[in-house]
Amino acid sequence: MSNTDLNEIREEIEKFPISTSEGLEEYRLKYLSRNGIIPDLLSRIGDAPPEQRAMLGKELNQLKNLAQDKFKKAQQDLKSGASHKQKATDDITLQVEPQPIGSLHPITQVLDEIKSVFFRLGFTVASGPELEDDFHNFTALNFPPEHPARDMQDTFFIRKDENDTSNDRVLRTHTSPVQIRLMESQRPPIRAIMPGRVYRNEAITAKSYCLFHQVEALYVDTHVTFAELKETLIILAQMLYGEDVRYRLRPSFFPFTEPSLEMDVWWGNEHKGQWLEVLGAGMVDPNVFRAVDIDPEVYSGYALGLGIERMAMLRYGINDIRLFYDNDLRFLNQFL
Ligand code: DAH
Repeated sequence: MSNTDLNEIREEIEKFPISTSEGLEEYRLKYLSRNGIIPDLLSRIGDAPPEQRAMLGKELNQLKNLAQDKFKKAQQDLKSGASHKQKATDDITLQVEPQPIGSLHPITQVLDEIKSVFFRLGFTVASGPELEDDFHNFTALNFPPEHPARDMQDTFFIRKDENDTSNDRVLRTHTSPVQIRLMESQRPPIRAIMPGRVYRNEAITAKSYCLFHQVEALYVDTHVTFAELKETLIILAQMLYGEDVRYRLRPSFFPFTEPSLEMDVWWGNEHKGQWLEVLGAGMVDPNVFRAVDIDPEVYSGYALGLGIERMAMLRYGINDIRLFYDNDLRFLNQFL
């Protein structure tokens, strides 16, 4: 047994990788077990010439201690689970376990896309409270006092004080009240989108949920025309649904716009499909301007509102709105 042989074994021991308990057992069998390399060498000391035995014994004992120390340390590290961590910090070139990455919720992804379209058209973002008063949610938006949307069917009413109804609030039923707040706090020109949550007291089904998201858009200035509204809607549809989107604009009614319209997009191919309503829009009603002290003789404007869940369902072929609110990772992981 020469010195070079012993040095080789020492190096081997030092380099032997142990990261699992199987690796540890392999190491033990190879070097330390009864038939392992080190006990074998020790048992053969007697074969060496007498004048070398003392020296050889000392070196073999050192080797044995080294091998045992390494074994104990690896055993401890494995037990405390620290071996991985320690290695990662000791050697920065080692690969680390890949960490699972999260994903943006599909509602956020669609909202980001809508925002980017409006940003290109020069719109900014505004927001308002989800707990609204009757004035902003209804009255200022030209809802007559007996309008059915104020009915208990659609609106969550919140009574803060049993004895004082002047403090009554509603969970906003749409994002249009943010238009009012914006016009109260800012003089035209105004060009903003207002994304947010809205609430409806409806039966929960695959098609309707008690809350959902809308994006409102408002543009007010001198000389804003219906033609500009139309142009904006077409650009929006093309950027969201593709250059060759098939759309139609239908006359409609909203208390806060006159004239009003709804936009449908064709969902399907040339032969089979259906028209789906994607947004409501119109020219701001003069009564809305009067409620916020903007002169309708000087200013005009357009407004529009669209539902984000509806768009996301179209986009991804989702047939149940409740999936957006379950936080089921099997659903969410598909939107990486
Ligand atoms: N607020 C309407 C709703 O929730 C949507 C809407 C329609 C908003 C027309 C508008 C608009 O700004 O001009 O159904």
